[in-house]
This record gives sequence, structure tokens and C-alpha cells, in this order.
Amino acid sequence: MSITTVLRMGDPILLLKANSVTQFDTPELHQLIEDLEDTMAYMNGAGIAAPQIGVSLRVVIFGQKNADESKNPRYPDADSVPYTVLINPILKPISEEIEDGWEGCLSVPGMRGIVPRALRLHYTGFDQFGNAIDRLVSGFHARVVQHECDHLDGILYPMRIANLKDFGYTDVLFPNQDIQDD
Ligand code: NI
Repeated sequence: MSITTVLRMGDPILLLKANSVTQFDTPELHQLIEDLEDTMAYMNGAGIAAPQIGVSLRVVIFGQKNADESKNPRYPDADSVPYTVLINPILKPISEEIEDGWEGCLSVPGMRGIVPRALRLHYTGFDQFGNAIDRLVSGFHARVVQHECDHLDGILYPMRIANLKDFGYTDVLFPNQDIQDD
């Protein structure tokens, strides 16, 4: 296990534009994926981006490895998203439709905000072995990909909140729900 410290909002590394990965299937890349996996699992994240553990590369992981674990304690109502390693991603909204939804972030612990995101998304990229990924997704899956890939351009979700009245502490916003306070 290699659980890594997650950088929190205010750290300048989170504001950088991350670099593309140029070599796949290397020991370094596999170690990075393992560190991201262990850290995401430990913190019950819906996803995590390499810059959040201090590595400024265009690598994100998200989703659930196990169908049995599809109920994430941080997002108990979320549809299950398949476990995905996504490298050098390219995102294209496939309609004009925008959906508002609550988001949190391991780099902004204990808070949630309403963020408008494209409802339907076409995304492409590569896994850690260099295999191509090409998907059409919608809803929570599309939201997670947009949130994680924003990290690669130095964007944290509070920067996307349309109305800052829709931003607050998780336990205050949802006092009667068993949402893990990170
Ligand atoms: Ni995040």
C-alpha cells in the first residue's frame, strides 16, 4: 500500500497545467497508478488526479473496481462508474445540455458545491498500457470525468460554482445524511 498525502486547495501544484504522458507501460507510470488507487480507495474518492498527489502529469483515475462497492460513502446516490485509468484525456461535450450537481473534492475536504457540467460527453485517452479509450457517457460519469480532468488544467471545482451561495460544509448542508465528512 502506498497511500499518499493529498494536496489541498491553496497548494500551487494544484493550479498548474499538467504535462502529457509520453511513455506508457513503464514502472514509474504503474507505480503512479498504484499510488493513486491506494489513495483514492483509502479516502473513498470518486476519482483522483495525479496533480492531487503532487505529480503534474495528465493522469486521472475514477470509478469503482467492484460492483459490490458501487455505493461510495462520499456519493451514496451516484450511479456506479466503471473503474478507469485515463491518461492524456480529450473531452468533448456532445450536446448543449448542462446539468447542475453537487461535487466535492479530496483537495477541498469537508465541503460541497453545486457545479454546472455538460450532461453528455465524448472522451478519449489511453490507459496505462497505451490502449485507446473512447466513450460516450452522461450524468454522473460525465461529471466525474469533467471534474477529474479539470485538475489537469489547474481548475478546482469551486472555480466552476455559478452561485457561491451553493457552496458550504458537507455536514451543515446535509445534516441528516450519512455522507462521509472528509
Ligand atoms: Ni477533485
